[in-house]
Amino acid sequence: MWTRDNIPDLTGKIAVVTGANTGIGYETAKALYEKGADVTIAARNERKAAAAAQKIRQESGDGGRLDIAILDLASLDQIETFAEQFKATYKQLDILVNNAGVMIPPPSLTDDGFEMQFGVNFIGHFALTAHLLPLLLAAPAGRVVTLTSGAATLVTGIDFDNLRLEKPYDEWREYATSKLADIIFTYELDRRLKAADCPILSLAAHPGVARTDLQRHIPGEILTGLFNHYKTVMEPWQGALPSLFAATAPAVMGGEFYGPDGEQEYARYPVLSKHSTPAMKNPELATQLWEYAQSATGLKFQF
Ligand SMILES: NC(=O)c1ccc[n+]([C@@H]2O[C@H](COP(=O)([O-])OP(=O)(O)OC[C@H]3O[C@@H](n4cnc5c(N)ncnc54)[C@H](OP(=O)(O)O)[C@@H]3O)[C@@H](O)[C@H]2O)c1
Repeated sequence: MWTRDNIPDLTGKIAVVTGANTGIGYETAKALYEKGADVTIAARNERKAAAAAQKIRQESGDGGRLDIAILDLASLDQIETFAEQFKATYKQLDILVNNAGVMIPPPSLTDDGFEMQFGVNFIGHFALTAHLLPLLLAAPAGRVVTLTSGAATLVTGIDFDNLRLEKPYDEWREYATSKLADIIFTYELDRRLKAADCPILSLAAHPGVARTDLQRHIPGEILTGLFNHYKTVMEPWQGALPSLFAATAPAVMGGEFYGPDGEQEYARYPVLSKHSTPAMKNPELATQLWEYAQSATGLKFQF
């Protein structure tokens, strides 16, 4: 059973966790900081980010360095601004945790016209990773951990004609599509890194089911029913374990995907996930998604 106590000493490591002001991202940032990493809490709201940093310092005492930075993943311009500011402060990045996420919001578009969930959960992290790649390359063994979900198994592909709300909104389908894109991205990034002989590891994690602000758009009575169905609903610190394992365990390999070891991977402790669908591993779909994302963001990964 792997827990936070198993995280190795991270002194000298530089980490960024997106959406780290609350939930699983908060617990991920906190655990990395406690083990000595220099952590940037990347969040879209400055007040929430500052409150999270203060809470971590109060609860954890001394750790590494703790910074906050504004990052709105619904805006490609803001992602670039974040990356430029980060590069002005840090010369390498050891751990990037693509954690931020939004689930079943009312229909809306990002600044660049993507359906909000696809835009934030996938496109935003694609762009962020592309911008930060030079710093990941400057680290001895950088890691990119991207959060996906069991929901990624709910769709069989990506509807490229519906990534900008072209069709009637189906909130759960759009969430599942964004999380499928995240796992495809992880595997495709791994393939490209290996082909270019880069030492960076690309890994995926899913938390299982944890009670967080992610469920903010689910009405109370429906949420109660859902949580009863899952039986075990974890606290955010436990939901952070698969991410922390992927980000820090010495024995991981690029292209691995971690989730909890309980029934249907809803809860418990991190192991290799058994969630696998043909779409997740389809290389043609992965190439199509990668080319779509490059062209839609105007960004290329320079390995
Ligand atoms: N909780 C679960 O059971 C579960 C299950 C499967 C997968 N996941 C995945 O785990 C990750 C973390 O989720 P969580 O449960 O910790 O949810 P959460 O508590 O709602 O945290 C999500 C974080 O993402 C941030 N975020 C949302 N939109 C953003 C944007 N446009 N730009 C930057 N940040 C943005 C939120 O910021 P604000 O606080 O400002 O809104 C928040 O910090 C997500 O990727 C989610 O899909 C969670």
